[in-house]
Amino acid sequence: MPGAETFRASADVYDRHVGRYGAALAEALIAFAGVEPGMRALDVGCGPGALATALVAKLGAANVSAADPSEPFAQACQARLPGVEVVVATAESLPFPDDTFDAVLSQLVVNFMREPEAGIRELARVTRSGGVVASCVWDYAGEMTLLRAFWDAAREVDPERGALADEAAVMAWCADGELGELWRTAGLKDVRTGSLVVSAVYADFEDLWSPFPTGIAPSGAFCASLDNEQRAALHDAYRRHLGVGAFPFELTARAWAAAGAVP
Ligand SMILES: C[S@@+](CC[C@H](N)C(=O)[O-])C[C@H]1O[C@@H](n2cnc3c(N)ncnc32)[C@H](O)[C@@H]1O
Repeated sequence: MPGAETFRASADVYDRHVGRYGAALAEALIAFAGVEPGMRALDVGCGPGALATALVAKLGAANVSAADPSEPFAQACQARLPGVEVVVATAESLPFPDDTFDAVLSQLVVNFMREPEAGIRELARVTRSGGVVASCVWDYAGEMTLLRAFWDAAREVDPERGALADEAAVMAWCADGELGELWRTAGLKDVRTGSLVVSAVYADFEDLWSPFPTGIAPSGAFCASLDNEQRAALHDAYRRHLGVGAFPFELTARAWAAAGAVP
């Protein structure tokens, strides 16, 4: 099952894949976490910088840091946000002293961590006592329409490999309530959970499809692994599952969120 390595990709391609939802999701996560002006914040697994951009708008660049193990994504984030400290690092090993931040947020990253509990403990380590650690993950099994329809089509075209790669089956911590369990296990207190629903617009189905054959993200990696005939079948099945075609449309996406305070 491909994972974190599928994000060693161009920011432009990411922006056309799930990155389309990033800005709206970042606003929702920041509100859910209770980030307020005057705080210092860290975006873990920043990608090309959707959450960091929203944090800068709220807190100012001098109060925002960002980290991602993907060099192309970290470079893209740095280029987009020159005043932000961007480091190449994993959640499990952050190059910051204890108690550095008031808020540490992580958007769509926990399920890609090699050691999620160690990762959340590390997010808490760099957060001051009383500060907030918050994240969200896609509802792959349900209301993340872009990816749910993709995997339903993949399972139709190649039932065996599609079932093995379906992120609803593969990804941990992505069912309702699971992220909250992880937060409690990692020692956070006053844990809250909720759902964040956002949307993205597409010019037509080809606009949606264009990033998948590049191999970006687990879904793109599955698409790129198919031969031409199977990929064409996936393209047609995906369009049918979504019920869209040559005209503009909008899709909604739900993420599960958790926030907790550092003791
Ligand atoms: C789905 S993308 C989310 C990017 C960004 N947060 C956003 O909302 O657009 C997942 C990100 O997690 C990063 N990642 C993978 N493994 C990680 C780890 N162990 N620690 C931190 N980030 C990781 C990837 O490089 C990628 O940028």
